[in-house]
Amino acid sequence: MKRQFLTLVTGAALLAGGAMAHEDVENPTVKARMEVMETIRDNFGTIASMAQGKTAFDAAAAANAKAAALEASTDITTVFETEAMDPKSEAKPEIWTNWDDFADKAAALETSLSGLDTESLEAMKAGFRTVAGACGACHKAYRTE
Ligand code: HEC
Repeated sequence: MKRQFLTLVTGAALLAGGAMAHEDVENPTVKARMEVMETIRDNFGTIASMAQGKTAFDAAAAANAKAAALEASTDITTVFETEAMDPKSEAKPEIWTNWDDFADKAAALETSLSGLDTESLEAMKAGFRTVAGACGACHKAYRTE
C-alpha cells in the first residue's frame, strides 16, 4: 500500500516537473519573466500558425489567444522591472539602463496586439506581422541570441 502511494506521488511530481518550463532556472524573478514570454509565445503561436495557414482558422480560438497574449503583454514591465540575472537568461543589461525605451517597446506590443483583428483570416493575416515586428524590435535590442 505504502509503496503504491509513493509511486503515485513520484509519478505526479515527475509530470509537474515536465510541464514546468525552466526548472533549472533558480532565480524566481528570471523564471517569472520567462514564463510571461512563454505565455506570449504560445498564444501568438496559435495566431501565427493560423495566419500562415498551418492550422485551420478558428475565430473563437484566435480571439482567445489574442486576449491571453495581450494580458501577458501587460505584465512585461512588471516582471522585468527588478533587475535580475541567471546564467540561462538571455536578457541584456541594457534593459535596466534604457528602461523607458524597453517600456515603450512593451507598450508597442500591447498596441499592436490590441489592434489585431481576429474576426477574419484575411484581417488577421494582414495584421499579425506588425505584432511579430514588435516582438522582434524588442528582442533585437534587449535579448541575446
Ligand atoms: C519589451 C520587450 C519584449 C517584447 C515586446 C517581447 N519580448 Fe520576448 N523576450 C524579451 C526578453 C528581454 C527576453 C529574454 C528574457 C530572459 O531570458 O531573461 C525574451 C524572451 C522571450 C522568449 C524566451 C523565453 C524563455 O523561456 O527563455 C520567447 C519565446 C519570447 N521572448 C517570445 C516573444 C514573442 C512571441 C513576442 C511577441 C509576441 C515577444 N517575445 C515580445 C523581451 C521582449
